[in-house]
Amino acid sequence: MATATALAVDFFRIDFVMKLDIAPHSPLRKKNFCFGVATAAFQIEGGCQTRDRNIWDTFCTKNGAIRDNSNGDIACNHYELWQEDLELIAHLGVDAYRFSISWGRVVDAEGNIKPQGVEFYLNILKRLKSLNIKAYVTLYHWDLPQYLEDEGGWLNRETAYKFAHYADVISKELGDYIFSWATLNEPFCSAYLGYEVGIHAPGKIGREYGKKAAHHLLLAHGLAMDKLRKNCPNSESGIVVNVSPRYGETESREDQIAARLADEHFNQWYISPLLTGEYPKIIEQLPEEEKPEILPGDLEIIAAKLDYLGINYYTRERYVADPENGFKPSDKKPLALTDMGWEIYPQGLTDILVQLHEQYQLPPIYITENGAAMPDKLVDGAVKDKDRLAYYRSHLHAVEDAMAVGVDIRAYFAWSLMDNFEWAEGYLKRFGIVYVDYQSQKRIIKQSGLAYREFLLGR
Ligand code: GCO
Repeated sequence: MATATALAVDFFRIDFVMKLDIAPHSPLRKKNFCFGVATAAFQIEGGCQTRDRNIWDTFCTKNGAIRDNSNGDIACNHYELWQEDLELIAHLGVDAYRFSISWGRVVDAEGNIKPQGVEFYLNILKRLKSLNIKAYVTLYHWDLPQYLEDEGGWLNRETAYKFAHYADVISKELGDYIFSWATLNEPFCSAYLGYEVGIHAPGKIGREYGKKAAHHLLLAHGLAMDKLRKNCPNSESGIVVNVSPRYGETESREDQIAARLADEHFNQWYISPLLTGEYPKIIEQLPEEEKPEILPGDLEIIAAKLDYLGINYYTRERYVADPENGFKPSDKKPLALTDMGWEIYPQGLTDILVQLHEQYQLPPIYITENGAAMPDKLVDGAVKDKDRLAYYRSHLHAVEDAMAVGVDIRAYFAWSLMDNFEWAEGYLKRFGIVYVDYQSQKRIIKQSGLAYREFLLGR
């Protein structure tokens, strides 16, 4: 098993890294381990004329909300270029493609299906099938239709039932082609970033909002699970959460408590109700106005059995004690950063997986997102992103380490297939293993993408 130091060395020796370097007997080379690439509707599709507006369309018009003042009107123009993009995905040699459906493209404000939008996704799904690529489809990757935000969005309990309706009607249309459904992507981001600190759409700010939005999101998930089970008995259904392991900056009791509190607020707040039907104990200490309204039966709905749990991992967080809030982020500078300013810390992926494995009876785990934004340069038609390649390599080793201690991990998806609209960062941050020239909409496979392909084809 690699140690933290060995993994760090992996990263710093990036000059030597040309391949993913997965050992011949690695469990990652087994036939049944699934590798894929991931995207999300708003980040790549464009085609904004053919769908209802959503909270991100609105947020993008807000002064200063998006770093480069951009929006998702065109993005990677996947709406028109989807056929080429699917060829590219097939060329990479992946087993699966994870993407999301734009709610406002397929269901209108009255709850009726929109045939043109359904056809767009059906075409994609049919082509994936003919390419023998499994479809992992997310119902909600943050693009709430504006017509629902106008009614209160995720602060309105009714939105959970609207989501269940959407899940019901769309799964009837597309169900035959879906290998794996995910209800929500990262409810923490929708709730906390969108309704508590306001750096994501819809940009609401207030401590009294975050956990209420979170409860309605989780309820939406549980209600939708029931529809998916009924309509698609042959597909798997689950949810995707983002987890960052939370460490104390020092070994001091105070910092350790700070880290535990942060873990409860940001990780366990989502995972615990999903897996046990209970919110973490901190719920008792919340001021009345921050407590979600939990109706009888809600927690049973939320704890619907999952076929898998999707985990998105990018970085870790470190904390120190804070007299006012109990915890605050440490301001100590990490050793290595991605272009997002996120610490590169592969050991954190092993740590959080092992922590959850020890804490819960976990369903099978899929790593539904992992990857890095790097300051890529297109030079002579190529992107030599050795730093990203090193990131993938060290994180795949971290997955192996978690598997070695018994965590049941069955899939891994690179985030992302291609550069795209990185939310509040606009197009300034590039996460792709494929470079996108936004002027010409040309796709160029980066060195990391070539290495991924080489590994996948060589399994
Ligand atoms: C997320 C989202 C992606 C992001 C990626 C990088 O996990 O936050 O699923 O849409 O682009 O994570 O921030």
